[in-house]
Amino acid sequence: MTQSLMAEIRAHAPAYVKNTRLIDWVSRMAALTGAKAVHWCDGSDDEYDRLCQQLVDAGTFKRLNPVKRPNSFLACSDPSDVARVEDRTFICSQDKQDAGPTNNWMEPAEMRALLQTGENALFKGAMKGRTLYVIPFSMGPLGSPISHIGVELSDSPYVVVNMKRMTRMGRAVVDHLGTDGDFVPCMHTVGAPLDEGQRDVAWPCNAVKYIVHYPETQEIWSFGSGYGGNALLGKKCLALRIASTMGRDQGWLAEHMLILGVTTPAGRKYHVAAAFPSACGKTNFAMLIPPPSLGNWRVTTIGDDIAWIKPGRDGRLYAINPEAGYFGVAPGTNFETNPNCMRSLERDVIFTNVALTDDGDVWWEGMGPAPQHAIDWQGKDWTPALAKETGAKAAHPNARFTVSATNNPALDPAWDDAAGVPIDAFIFGGRRSTTVPLVTEARNWMEGIYMGATLGSETTAAAVGQQGVVRRDPFAMLPFCGYNMGDYFQHWLDMEHRLQEHASALPKIFCVNWFRKGPDGKFIWPGYGDNARVLKWMIERLEGTAEGEGHFFGISPRYEDLDWNGLDFSPEQFAGIIDADATSWKAELKLHDALFDLLAPRMPSVLKATRQAIEASLTD
Ligand code: OXD
Ligand code: MN
Repeated sequence: MTQSLMAEIRAHAPAYVKNTRLIDWVSRMAALTGAKAVHWCDGSDDEYDRLCQQLVDAGTFKRLNPVKRPNSFLACSDPSDVARVEDRTFICSQDKQDAGPTNNWMEPAEMRALLQTGENALFKGAMKGRTLYVIPFSMGPLGSPISHIGVELSDSPYVVVNMKRMTRMGRAVVDHLGTDGDFVPCMHTVGAPLDEGQRDVAWPCNAVKYIVHYPETQEIWSFGSGYGGNALLGKKCLALRIASTMGRDQGWLAEHMLILGVTTPAGRKYHVAAAFPSACGKTNFAMLIPPPSLGNWRVTTIGDDIAWIKPGRDGRLYAINPEAGYFGVAPGTNFETNPNCMRSLERDVIFTNVALTDDGDVWWEGMGPAPQHAIDWQGKDWTPALAKETGAKAAHPNARFTVSATNNPALDPAWDDAAGVPIDAFIFGGRRSTTVPLVTEARNWMEGIYMGATLGSETTAAAVGQQGVVRRDPFAMLPFCGYNMGDYFQHWLDMEHRLQEHASALPKIFCVNWFRKGPDGKFIWPGYGDNARVLKWMIERLEGTAEGEGHFFGISPRYEDLDWNGLDFSPEQFAGIIDADATSWKAELKLHDALFDLLAPRMPSVLKATRQAIEASLTD
């Protein structure tokens, strides 16, 4: 780039931008990508409205009926760009072993040549004919000691408006950066340069995709996709993959966990963080409404997807939700199973890949009665008869809503607290039709880490792969851990020693499974709001007022230890979801071995010893 172009971009940065590193980086990236203009996002409502209108004019957005769904939009993506692309996601650490066997890896210099420096590098000229948006954002309350700042450069206005809902975005972040504040550079292009006079398409993207992380230099480079976690780089890329490496180096945890507040009828407040793999009802649990028959228990949402957890001076672990909005899966969401979520979606929503009804509203499978006719997510006519005949889906199974957390009627008053909330318990849960009991409490930290490390979930139709096969998903972090999974287990184990002086403040750890099936193939446990019965038992365990029974894997409640008020559920049904039988556990331990073998040589030996101890107690 010429000095004069650099100077021109500097000169065009708003006067409030004082951060030299930021201005230099933006100048270099504008030159690399050949963007036709640079827009510094101020994060205002006015800017949001203008960009939404621009997206409507470009055909990317449809404005929904303002009476039914005020200030809301529908975007339909290219059919080739509908989900995170795990096979195109790379952790480019210097040493391959630091990325570990569960991540794709490429040598950083090789990747840089491919993306930036080589003769035909993908980012060269990638934004030709497009505007480069500078999107400054804070993950977590601005100025919180737990928060971190990122700046995304993107040529997608769809990304800008989503980032406005999902993060604290705009000028205040740049002000906070001052002259020399630190930020994570997040570079994004849809990879669809426009020639002079070339007409744009509604959803530009590229068949070639790269989602790249350099943990040592803390950079993110994303090419070719405009969808979700591939493009909204604050979420999985920064808040999990890069942040997990920061946590490893600095002694904290970046986790794929929701955060709940639980208030007992006596008014005592507890906080739990829970990890579930995709498609396990995480959003439903994050917005759970306890049945009134349980008494006055209240559940409030702090976060629905990600938790950043740092040790406080008092030795307790404090968590924030680094995000400010929800990017949730729409299909299956309805007023019966998740009224709080449905109420969150009443206005100011961006929907992606759901169906458009004839009255200008949205619909998806599992929302309620189907409309007689709709336009499906690919713009085609859809009717219930067609669906019956061909199986055609009105909404894509990974269709999403983007909405601010402040839309949630069950939002916890402390959701934005810079100090975070103290964590009293961790929960690990997967989708398992057999083997894993409804709930088990770990007897100690090690046993809890073992539960997290060996977490598994059966794949569903929405996930890639064969249906019903158990995919091991340690801590629900398989696609999100930015470093070697064996080192990550060790990091969790080390937390116990780090907090040792305050051992009594260590959170309890539980493992849950809402998904056991009976011989008829049907779910035995009602789930949803009734999961509050399990939550109640956990809190009573924290308070020392509930009993349980020990077995080889931990402690589970007996029938009489749970509150059944208002639910007709027999001891026989309970037996079908709480038992841990030796034969299936012998097979289960073999599956654990497969993971441990994969992770050798960095697999902590204490976890292998725990596995041996479980097996020994099984055969006793
Ligand atoms: C998500 C996921 O989109 O975990 O949050 O897949
Ligand atoms: Mn998630």
